[in-house]
Amino acid sequence: MTAQIIDGKAIAAKVRSEVKQSVERMKVEDNYTPGLATVLVGEDPASSTYVRSKQRACEELGIRSIGYELPGDISQADLLAVVTELNNDPQINGILVQLPLPKHIDEEAILNAISIEKDVDGFHPVNIGRLAMKGRDPLFIPCTPHGCIVLLDEAGVPIKGAEAVVVGRSNIVGLPVAMLLQKRDATVTICHSRTKDLAEHLRNADIVIAAIGRTEMITGDMLKPGAAVIDVGINQKPDPTAKRGYRLVGDVDYESASEVAGAITPVPGGVGPMTIAMLMKNTLRAAEIALAKQEG
Ligand code: GUN
Repeated sequence: MTAQIIDGKAIAAKVRSEVKQSVERMKVEDNYTPGLATVLVGEDPASSTYVRSKQRACEELGIRSIGYELPGDISQADLLAVVTELNNDPQINGILVQLPLPKHIDEEAILNAISIEKDVDGFHPVNIGRLAMKGRDPLFIPCTPHGCIVLLDEAGVPIKGAEAVVVGRSNIVGLPVAMLLQKRDATVTICHSRTKDLAEHLRNADIVIAAIGRTEMITGDMLKPGAAVIDVGINQKPDPTAKRGYRLVGDVDYESASEVAGAITPVPGGVGPMTIAMLMKNTLRAAEIALAKQEG
């Protein structure tokens, strides 16, 4: 079997184009422009690249983007003051504090401080709590997990009743994507670094979400034939033929997995573009919430 390739680039482009149209309509009909504040603390090169991509996406979609680049040794109090200022700024609809934060900053305290109506990352404990509970819905769904679900839907993969295995239990991806799959009536197993026999779990999985951050650790022989595989991993693999000396690969060994899976996302070009597209969608939603409050 050769798997259907789930084209994240194309699906993300479709989501962005829908958001762009809604932003244009909002400008004309409501005389209102959505605004996103990005907060980058320190100079981690990967975080800087991600934040720049988020700002560029805003510009392309007509969303106002305001970037805060703060020194890596900023105090907790000063960072909290920036968040409070943004909470109170009517021009700002979404606040994105790029993670990870430096070790001396209490991440939980910062995420708690973001107004839940501006929490476009969906990381506020109230939003995560609502995501976890039956019959409740968060104001915002975390972007990468939401992107995984949209990819499954767009590829026509049934979620209801499916056996889903999530590999990884991070707050940003593994945990929320497991909760989303459960909300959609999948039977969900979360595997992680201490799982005794990962292959045993994967053998029964109709859906696999790989988000453990280990280069190509899931191989085709571990998968159920026909499984849908969403690879969230972005790992650098040494490659002397590449200009940078490495190339980006996922947590799944694409070559062997695509021989067994029914559908699979590539790396790059799978989940990656979806994270930003869903962030843009959340920012639009934040602006809609702000407008409704103004009018109400
Ligand atoms: N770091 C890695 N992924 C993310 C994300 O989706 N949002 C934020 N704020 N930080 C991240």
